[in-house]
This record gives sequence, structure tokens and C-alpha cells, in this order.
Amino acid sequence: MGDQGLTDLPMKIKLPEREAAGRSSFEEILAKRRSIRSYSEKALSESDVARFLWAAQGISSKEGFRTAPSAGALYPLEVHLVAGNVAGIEPGVYRYISEEHSLIEDVSGDLRAKLATAALSQPMIRNAPASLVISAVYPRITSKYMKRGIRYAVMEAGHVAENIYLLATELGIGTCAIGAFEDEEVRKALKLPANEDPLYIMPLGYV
Ligand SMILES: Cc1cc2nc3c(=O)[nH]c(=O)nc-3n(C[C@H](O)[C@H](O)[C@H](O)COP(=O)(O)O)c2cc1C
Repeated sequence: MGDQGLTDLPMKIKLPEREAAGRSSFEEILAKRRSIRSYSEKALSESDVARFLWAAQGISSKEGFRTAPSAGALYPLEVHLVAGNVAGIEPGVYRYISEEHSLIEDVSGDLRAKLATAALSQPMIRNAPASLVISAVYPRITSKYMKRGIRYAVMEAGHVAENIYLLATELGIGTCAIGAFEDEEVRKALKLPANEDPLYIMPLGYV
């Protein structure tokens, strides 16, 4: 246990500087990642939207595992696209179906303003061409892990959000994790089922 030296100061190890330790392109992305809250008005491309959905909850193995880890591989999360200005996708709210890498429309029309109002009128949601909304269906995971399943689902949303942040940094797209909103208002706006709880809103737009 530690040095029993002449002083009682704890041992300190000065770590190698980032440059000396080596710097991969992945680490560059980590260094560059920031929350960005204003975006160009340019429409998001359908292919970029597809890349974000895959990064969030896409299938990445033949066994059906996904890009983000999940306790017990129970996958309690859903990802919704709130599209307002996406080339090739009509304005509306869509649910991502991981297994098919496809979208199903749940609500038609441009819901961005309503979603922004539900999120304490944070303007970036209204201004971004689209947002992703990550929500949890807790019973999928509490059935195995009981109360702790709630914690696991929330942790998992963090993994998904970070995947979105890092891809956004790579693609020159701005995003910001938004947790300040009225759950009921978001649920109403997106017509989420009663057993689905919104956890994060992440607007997306070119920088
Ligand atoms: C759980 C959580 C909730 C957040 N909610 C909001 C939010 O409602 N509005 C907002 O503008 N930023 C929100 N943020 C983003 C933080 O403000 C941001 O991460 C922080 O200022 C650090 O900046 P950086 O992400 O650029 O490193 C949230 C971040 C986290 C992790």
C-alpha cells in the first residue's frame, strides 16, 4: 500500500501528454466533440439520417447485437426521428426499426415546433432540420432486472447519445443532448405509447 516515505503526501503520477501517448483519429473526434446549438438551414440528407439511426440502435452483428451496449441485450430503448426538413423523407415522426433498418411513420406533419415547446422552448429543436428522440420502454428490462432495470435503461441512453455525438463530430453535423423537457408534453407531441418514457432529444443539423 503506497510509499511509507518521509512525507505523508500521496504519490502522484504525471501521465504522458496526449501527443507523446499517441493520438488516433478516434481520439481527435473525442477532443472535437462539443454540444452545438445552431445549425444551417440546409436539409439533412436521408443517407445521413440513416447513418445516425444505425449509430444509435443499428444492428452490428449477425446475432442481432446493436451499436450501443445493452444490459442482458434486452434493448429497452426506442429511437424516433422527428423530421422537418429531411431530403426524401416527409415531415413527420418515425420510429426506427433496428431489425429492418427502416422507419415506420407514427405521426405525419412537422412536429418540430411542438417538440420545442415541450422542451422549455429551446430554439435549437425548432430550428434543426430534424431531431432524434431516445425513449425507454422500461418493462422490457425491469422484467429481468427489477428496479435496477430503470438505471440500466438510462445508462444505455447515454451510450446511444454518445454514439450520436461522435458520429455527428465525424460528419460535421451539430447536435446537443437535451434532457430538459416535460415528459408528458413530449409523449403527447410524438404520440408515444403510455409505457414509453422520453429520455433525450438530440437535434441534428449541418454546422
Ligand atoms: C443529461 C444531460 C442533459 C442535458 N440537457 C441539456 C439541455 O436541456 N439543453 C442544452 O442546451 N444542453 C443540454 N445538455 C448539454 C450540456 O449543456 C453540455 O454537454 C455541457 O455544457 C458540456 O458541453 P459539451 O457537451 O460541449 O462538452 C445536457 C447534457 C446532458 C449530459
